[in-house]
Amino acid sequence: MGAPLEPDDETLADWTARAAAFVRAQLAALAHLPAADVDDVSALVESFREGLPEQGVGLEELLARLDPAVRKSFTTPGPGYLAFIPGGGLPSSALGTYIAASVNRYVGVAQAAPALAQIEATTVRWLAESMGYPLDATGVLTTGGSLSTLTAIVAARGARLGEDFGRGVIYTSEQTHASLAKALRVAGFRRDQLRTLPVDSRFRLVPAALEAAIEADRSRGLTPFLLNVNAGTTNTGAVDPIPALSRVARDAGLWVHADAAYGGFFRWVDEALVPGLELVDSITLDPHKGLFLPYGTGCVLVRDGGALRRAFESDADYLRDVASAGEATDFTDLSPELSRAFRGLALWLPLMLHGVAAFRDALAEKLELARYFAARLRQDERFELLDEPQLSVVAFRLRGQDDHANAALLRRVNARGRVFLSSTRVQGRHAIRVCVLCFRTHRDRLDDALEALRQEARPS
Ligand SMILES: Cc1ncc(COP(=O)(O)O)c(C=O)c1O
Repeated sequence: MGAPLEPDDETLADWTARAAAFVRAQLAALAHLPAADVDDVSALVESFREGLPEQGVGLEELLARLDPAVRKSFTTPGPGYLAFIPGGGLPSSALGTYIAASVNRYVGVAQAAPALAQIEATTVRWLAESMGYPLDATGVLTTGGSLSTLTAIVAARGARLGEDFGRGVIYTSEQTHASLAKALRVAGFRRDQLRTLPVDSRFRLVPAALEAAIEADRSRGLTPFLLNVNAGTTNTGAVDPIPALSRVARDAGLWVHADAAYGGFFRWVDEALVPGLELVDSITLDPHKGLFLPYGTGCVLVRDGGALRRAFESDADYLRDVASAGEATDFTDLSPELSRAFRGLALWLPLMLHGVAAFRDALAEKLELARYFAARLRQDERFELLDEPQLSVVAFRLRGQDDHANAALLRRVNARGRVFLSSTRVQGRHAIRVCVLCFRTHRDRLDDALEALRQEARPS
């Protein structure tokens, strides 16, 4: 027989102690684990292709099985993980998730847990204010950037086009994250309704190109309605000129959405790094990137809260008795979800526990590390930078060498295990990139990355 569904107090204490010990051991290992280790993993993967167990197994045995499964992975919360967009996995936030899931109160309608719903609403308000949004703006915590963008698009579609959106046109730069095109598809737009526009030498959308594209579409009888601006691209960390683009878009009656999933929180260090977010109609933010939370917490902010509500409010007969009036927020009316996790605690607990200064300092350090890395790499003439870091991404390649040589260099550097970098294609060419975002990453790992690159680069 396995454990009863309701553990007694002693069992629960034993489980939580074992789980806590497991977590502590995993976190302690981060400093010395390879930055990625997915070699020879097939037997381990095979061991989890298993049938549904009729009887339960002890927690100790299960944790012992989980240990290698955790370790055989990209070490995404570790200090050497500089690939894609690192997050981190703040322990204090994981604790918030554990508490939220254990008390399992429902926050989708405020009446069901008024103070907990207010905690979540307060976290959204903090984020909105920190992006320069007015008090009547609103928003909702999501599972991540992709769902935030989808939510914003549905709000924009309703506000600008109504039910008939077949002639609507969306504009963005060619450097935009693929989640925008995916969200548009899910929201019912055809591929030919998206215009990907050229960028300048620093990978930023050019306002004149936007103006010309809007005009061309209007003259074809189409309806330009949405501009996506990037507040930190994944490829190079480029920040579009949001104030200038917003002016063009506003004059043309477009809704402006900012993808600030990666870059938005750098505003906490210096507004000038990501200027103009206060001007846009909606914002995608990703606390599981810029605030180092474990995967699973995004946020969408909408300046006109009414537009978000009109897009998602429903009228379920069986919920009439619990619908809120007045000040309280019913998150179910602001999002596609009904039953949902109490995500607010994963954000509220760390912000309260550490204070915002701790986050600001950590983000400032990441910016500084990216500048340090870029400055050092520039001293080695075998490398060329694609751009000076605008935020905490540095994209570069071997000067005068082909894509194959760059890909081979990346493999050799990653094989050394101290750091894990990733690649991308920028305007058709292979580039290696370093993204410094984890709160556990400090100067020593950037030095390791530099050392590995210098040693593994073939002499020119
Ligand atoms: C700039 C940017 N936007 C959006 C996304 C999508 O966010 P998520 O992975 O949280 O869905 C990412 C993810 O890396 C990103 O870097």
